[in-house]
This record gives sequence, C-alpha cells and structure tokens, in this order.
Amino acid sequence: MTGPVLVFDSGVGGLSVVAALRERLPGAALAYACDNAMMPYGIREDGWLVQRILAVCEAAVSASGCCVLVVACNTASTLALDALRGRLAVPVVGTVPAIKPAAQFSRTGHVGLLATSATVGRPYTLRLIREFAAGCRITRLAADALVGEAERWVCGEAPDRDVIREALAPLWSDSELDTVVLGCTHFPLLHDFLVEAAPRGVAWIDSGDAIARRVAQVIAGPAPCRGPGESFVTAPEPRLRAGLAAFGFAEPSLLHLD
Ligand code: DGL
Repeated sequence: MTGPVLVFDSGVGGLSVVAALRERLPGAALAYACDNAMMPYGIREDGWLVQRILAVCEAAVSASGCCVLVVACNTASTLALDALRGRLAVPVVGTVPAIKPAAQFSRTGHVGLLATSATVGRPYTLRLIREFAAGCRITRLAADALVGEAERWVCGEAPDRDVIREALAPLWSDSELDTVVLGCTHFPLLHDFLVEAAPRGVAWIDSGDAIARRVAQVIAGPAPCRGPGESFVTAPEPRLRAGLAAFGFAEPSLLHLD
C-alpha cells in the first residue's frame, strides 16, 4: 500500500495511539492530524461535531495521501464512524472504549469508565456495556478536565496533580473497583500521574494495542517510514511543535477546510 497511516484526534490524544502503532508497526510511515482549533470535542453538540469531523478528516486524508485513517478519538468514533466510512475512499479504523477487555480482565466485575462527557453518555458506549459487560458494575465518569492536562503535559508543562486527583475521586467510592477503562486517547498520556493519584492499585486499560493490531490487519504492507511524518493542524499553535516532534512528526502544516 502507498501512503502513510493517518492518525486523527481533536488534539494530542492520538499520540497515545501513535505510540502503540510504532510498537506494532515500527517501520510504517505515519502522519498525524488534529483539530486543535475546535478541541475539546467532548463538550460539543453531536450534529455540529459530525459535520466538523467529516470536514477535517476529508481535508487531512487528501493532504496526507494516506492508505488508512485511524480515528484515534473515542468521542469522534462513537459518533461519526459510519458517516466517515460513507464519505471516505480509504479504510477507517475507529477507537472505542475497551469495555470488553476490561470486563474480561476484572476479577471483581467492578469497572470504571473514564472518558469525555460525550463518550460516557453515547448510545454506542451504552451498547458496548450491554453487549460485553452485562454482568459487571460499570461506573461511568466524565473527566473532561484530564484532556487539558494531557495537552499541557505533551506540550512540555507539568499537569496539575490536584485536577487529576479530583477528576478521579468519584471512582474510589466503589471499594470493589479494580479496573479502569481509559476511554479517551488523551488519558494514557497521563498514565504515570493517574497511577500516582490513585489511592490503591487498579488496572488501567486502553485501546491502543487493539487499534494497532487492527491497523496491521487492514494494511497488508504499509508504506515504509522515511524520516519524520507529516503533521496537520487546524490552527497555528507553536506549543504543539515540540510535542509532535517528540513523537516523530515534522513541523505541522495548516489544513485548509472547504
Ligand atoms: N481524545 C479524545 C477522545 O478519545 C477526546 C478529547 C476531546 O474532548 O477533544 O475522546
């Protein structure tokens, strides 16, 4: 296949999926696109968001010449996967909360779902819980504040540990809870801070490796990686440069939307 694997998110969250892709497909060319002008997605209205995601992904797919689009955003995937697949000519791999592996992994059957406000309430998410975690007690917790903390961390600033502790606090009222699903791609970037803020040891489960496995199935032979991958943004943001460079991406170009 020609063209890179294009990873899309509202912001830097997709870089957690980039890390998983690099592990599984070390030689594959990757490109990155984010809609930083409209981040965060997790608090936006559904109808508007679908149109926005279609416009940004269409522009990014065409600018990157990618062979596959990875929607590395649970908020976008739980809403717009069908619309994207209907519109784009390339295969689309989505990211949805890892409810099934978490339900299988938990010993107590008490599982937390940490995601954006949009994702915790989406019919898609509720269906995943009904289908794959029927016997479990799932505590759904909106933690939009963590999105901004992950952005800060990737852009070189220390996250606010109090904000992280407060965001997680409601999880701990269930003393049996032993597994937490990171249902937003921004959150694995804060893994060490989440562990530090937790009052006891729990398993943190994200979708990164499952997505990387799926991409490996979809693209038989990805284009080989030659130097830093292209990156695309929807608003100039000098602080993103260093974060993208740390994950192997070149200076971002501005995407032009129709
Ligand atoms: N990284 C995105 C996700 O996985 C959401 C961040 C946002 O709210 O923009 O849901």
